[in-house]
Amino acid sequence: MKTVLYPGSFDPFTNGHYDLVCRAAQLFDKVIVAVAVNAGKSPMFSLEERRHLIEQCCADLPSVEVVVIEGLLVDSLERYGVQAILRGLRAFSDFEYELQMALMNRNLRPQCETIFLTPTLKNSFVSSSLVKEIARYNGDFSSYVPGPVAEAIRKKRAE
Ligand code: PNS
Repeated sequence: MKTVLYPGSFDPFTNGHYDLVCRAAQLFDKVIVAVAVNAGKSPMFSLEERRHLIEQCCADLPSVEVVVIEGLLVDSLERYGVQAILRGLRAFSDFEYELQMALMNRNLRPQCETIFLTPTLKNSFVSSSLVKEIARYNGDFSSYVPGPVAEAIRKKRAE
């Protein structure tokens, strides 16, 4: 059984993230989407809110499980029996950060492999931070996120 773990802050989960989960589900027996803390970001949604939203978005994908991880990513790999970490690469600008994380994770845990997938072109410019920025200025972000996420952003902004 081949299992891949797809970590991210997913604040919020976008069509680009969903695109990657669908691709991974074609390649692996099981996909674990891991909502994790990025110490450099202050999130809009709590970890549990994000987990619940991603579960709703991936309800049609039976091999996908959504979890919250706290602490170091590499410390969760054994617990979930994963063979590899999955990360998305949208543009060349992602590469430096992604390479640094992949190498650091391997340094922390030598068996740790990171694989990269790219979303389809129409999702290549979508990012969680741009979605939040568009929402902040009352722009239309609905074509960049799955329906349940769009609804949750609207509710959060109305609070
Ligand atoms: O979607 P993001 O914000 O780019 O995801 C980054 C994330 C959450 C995967 C990264 O910050 C992470 O792995 N956090 C868990 C703590 C950890 O292991 N940090 C060291 C990374 S080398």
